[in-house]
Amino acid sequence: MERVTAADLDAPHRGYPADVIPLQYHAHMLLDEPRMEAFARAVDLTVGPGTRVLDLGAGTGVLSYFAARRGAHVTAVEREPGVAETARAALREAVGDRVTLVHADAREFLPDGPVDVVLCEMLHVGLLRERQIEVVAAFKHRYLARFGGPLPRFVPEACVQAVAPVAQDFSYRGYHVPAPVFQEPFAAQPRTTPLAPPAVFQRFFYSDPLPRRCEASVAFTVEGAGVCNAVRLSTKNLLALTYDPPGSVDWLMNHLVVPLPAPVPVAAGRRLTVAFGYCPGDEIPALRDSLRVTLS
Ligand SMILES: C[S@@+](CC[C@H](N)C(=O)[O-])C[C@H]1O[C@@H](n2cnc3c(N)ncnc32)[C@H](O)[C@@H]1O
Repeated sequence: MERVTAADLDAPHRGYPADVIPLQYHAHMLLDEPRMEAFARAVDLTVGPGTRVLDLGAGTGVLSYFAARRGAHVTAVEREPGVAETARAALREAVGDRVTLVHADAREFLPDGPVDVVLCEMLHVGLLRERQIEVVAAFKHRYLARFGGPLPRFVPEACVQAVAPVAQDFSYRGYHVPAPVFQEPFAAQPRTTPLAPPAVFQRFFYSDPLPRRCEASVAFTVEGAGVCNAVRLSTKNLLALTYDPPGSVDWLMNHLVVPLPAPVPVAAGRRLTVAFGYCPGDEIPALRDSLRVTLS
């Protein structure tokens, strides 16, 4: 199976405004098997014949396709004109007129009537860079004002974020570059030595009021002596919750390793606090510049 590497995942953003994803990058997302598998399962669980679905930030339309093939009536909203045109053609070919593609800004768009399920994948590890929170919050506000409750079901339904202090090898053939690194979550990471297990710093449901900030002030007990020179952020999207049996369809995104401004040597058993704060949608430097690691 062709695999998307962690290095692929951010490169195509270069030269584009933060939340603009050029068409060629969409192929990388379509090749990201863990992402695709999780969304296909989540749509199968939440959508059936006749379900009214809204897909915000439809991209190439793949999530709309998943919903349409289950017999849903889908409205797909995409802001980038070239991407929207590509989606319109691909969806017409795949599912005929079962998806209505609208070229619009999802922050301003409302459907003509209530919907049952909202798909929204404008996600980046750490909730950085992309406007997921802003778009869903704006949608909820305007939807409730126009249609009243209840809100539709959101996919993803919830988010959990964790952080861990790590010792990261930032040397490349003897050349030291402390630059942020993306990592596949289920692959061995020989350059990274965790100094303590990850701790959750944020969790929320999309149906609840959404966070204005991503903030942490988390104390760890260091398990093995080392030099803490970075933190590793993990974001798990709970795409669909199941109740019988209890569980969820999850998409664990690539980790993000962010260097500290100054390394902190630590002995085993010492207490170490990691603190930071930024707004969802901010660029990675907003997280990096706010990072503080202190010993107590
Ligand atoms: C991460 S991609 C996901 C695309 C698609 N949902 C998928 O799962 O393959 C996010 C998409 O949202 C679009 N987008 C970002 N902000 C938007 C906005 N305010 N209104 C509509 N689309 C937006 C981007 O152009 C991009 O196509």
